[in-house]
Amino acid sequence: MQDQIDQYTAEINAFSPANADELETFRIKFLGTKGLIKDLFEDFKTVGPEEKRTFGKVLNQFKQLAEAKYNDLKESLTSTDIDQKSDIDLTLPGDGFQVGSRHPLSLVRNEIIDIFKRLGFVVAEGPEIEDDWHNFSALNFPEEHPARDMQDTFFIKKNAGKDDIALRTHTSSVQVRMMENGKPPFRAIMPGRVYRNEAISARAHCFFHQVEGLYIDENVSFADLKQTLYHFVQELYGEGTQVRFRPSYFPFTEPSAEMDISCTICKGAGCNMCKYSGWVEILGCGMVDPNVLENCGIDSKKYTGFAFGMGMERIANLKYVIRDLRLFSENDERFLKQFQTEII
Ligand code: DAH
Repeated sequence: MQDQIDQYTAEINAFSPANADELETFRIKFLGTKGLIKDLFEDFKTVGPEEKRTFGKVLNQFKQLAEAKYNDLKESLTSTDIDQKSDIDLTLPGDGFQVGSRHPLSLVRNEIIDIFKRLGFVVAEGPEIEDDWHNFSALNFPEEHPARDMQDTFFIKKNAGKDDIALRTHTSSVQVRMMENGKPPFRAIMPGRVYRNEAISARAHCFFHQVEGLYIDENVSFADLKQTLYHFVQELYGEGTQVRFRPSYFPFTEPSAEMDISCTICKGAGCNMCKYSGWVEILGCGMVDPNVLENCGIDSKKYTGFAFGMGMERIANLKYVIRDLRLFSENDERFLKQFQTEII
């Protein structure tokens, strides 16, 4: 019996479990209801009184040793278990995550949409790959007319004029689609990307963004056009922003105008944004030419309307004092991070 206890004692002292499962096996082996210690106590009952005195003490010490070893190991195993799980400790504060910011062109587009929505305008969109009809012919650009050169077009398929396919050079093409596919009255704004074959520099890019506006109904006048755009500018750049209309030419409007606003940067005093004139041009506009209405199947005797088109980059430049067009498409985080962050 003594030999056996010595052997078990050595085993217990050497025992070093790798995990809780091994410790449990140890417990069952030595301390379980059918374990070795229980067996030893059973054996102990059968020994003579002389041996009882010596072995009683040895056996009790052995039992204590096994229990102490078990309890120590249990404690150290559970505490390392907690350490291993500490990265999912639910009481720790959560990891922060970065919320993105809206692109300045999206901010401007959303603001423009908001202002016109309050005036009852809906938002419409059209394709960026356009045919000659929607981009030019329906808009009263005569064939082979130099007016087509006003906009350096990226052609995708050239078929001697009529069936040319191109990247749209302006969002005015969406007006045509809208009028062809619906019935007046129309009151819509049409934001989108447009393309022109221009060398890229701080002041020009081969793609940019426009917002087109269209209002067709009975008795729409140039006064309605002026009032609508005046209101728009007050909302966008603040009360007191001055506007002026200069006569201009577009094939699809008659009469046509360009609208300037008092420079939002220097308030008209003169700065390099307004080339020291105090004014900056922000859009082209006019009364929709009767030819365009007829091309789109609208009775030009009954209906009149106005249209306008503005470059979103220009609007954003004036709002955020951005001086280089390339910044809008370079995705430089140092630039993008400066704009209002929205929690979604
Ligand atoms: N489409 C013109 C451009 O890209 C802008 C424009 C001018 C749109 C006058 C209009 C308008 O609707 O009436 O330069």
